[in-house]
Amino acid sequence: MISLKHVFKTYADGTPAVSGLSLDIKAGETLVLLGSSGCGKTTTLKLINRLIELTNGSIEVDGRNIMDQEITELRRSIGYVFQGIGLFPHLSVERNIAVVPRLLGWRKSKCQKRARELMDLVKLPPSEYACQYPDQLSGGQQQRVGVARALAADPAYLLMDEPFGALDALTRNQLQQELLRIKSELKKTIIFVTHDIFEALTLGDRIAVMHEGRIEQCGSKEEILAAPATEFVRDLFAKPATQLKLFYGDN
Ligand SMILES: Nc1ncnc2c1ncn2[C@@H]1O[C@H](COP(=O)(O)OP(=O)(O)OP(=O)(O)O)[C@@H](O)[C@H]1O
Ligand SMILES: [Mg+2]
Repeated sequence: MISLKHVFKTYADGTPAVSGLSLDIKAGETLVLLGSSGCGKTTTLKLINRLIELTNGSIEVDGRNIMDQEITELRRSIGYVFQGIGLFPHLSVERNIAVVPRLLGWRKSKCQKRARELMDLVKLPPSEYACQYPDQLSGGQQQRVGVARALAADPAYLLMDEPFGALDALTRNQLQQELLRIKSELKKTIIFVTHDIFEALTLGDRIAVMHEGRIEQCGSKEEILAAPATEFVRDLFAKPATQLKLFYGDN
């Protein structure tokens, strides 16, 4: 479980990116952090694995304050899929996936085996793709590599920052379905960032609506659609709610 309590992050230039955010992520769930550009989603994810340090408040992972843990140990328990992919262009697909295992000092043969296992999981046949380089792949394929890389050291948690944001609707839908499959196979706890309401409704066991550095409401899609807690949440879901009714009726 991950728990954020009254978390604040003000950047050096005075920008208040996160302002009193509290949120609990339960073991095994996919929590979608939904909010518009600049509301503090990436900052929140980076605070959790200490890519940036918080200004105030506290964050616990598995009941332990992240400030009391070794950074390497903390990061080993958390896989991170960066916004905008961030594959290493000079490394093959296999080497990209094995970056963390190599940092952890795994034997070369074990790294290779693990990378190939994950390529199978994300449906990139190793015989075809292991030796390819990122610029030889489509956007969707690169995202699959990004997901495989985050899973390499078998972390309990997965932080995914708009992983499918740059993809066309069809590819995006396909990867969403595959993430649901991978999640049911691997039983990870996932925080998934998006600004797409339909993606949030598809993937989230719960959705946390974020606005100006805080959580406006956190709940299941049924709870949020039935009883939006604030005007902001009501407005955000008003159009999708109408479209959902067209698809599914009033229930
Ligand atoms: N290194 C930084 N220094 C100063 N301000 C920053 C820095 N990084 C982000 N910000 C600001 O903090 C706020 C939150 O940024 P953040 O990247 O967390 O937003 P986001 O919700 O992930 O947005 P997007 O959907 O566009 O990725 C924004 O106003 C942004 O300009
Ligand atoms: Mg972001």
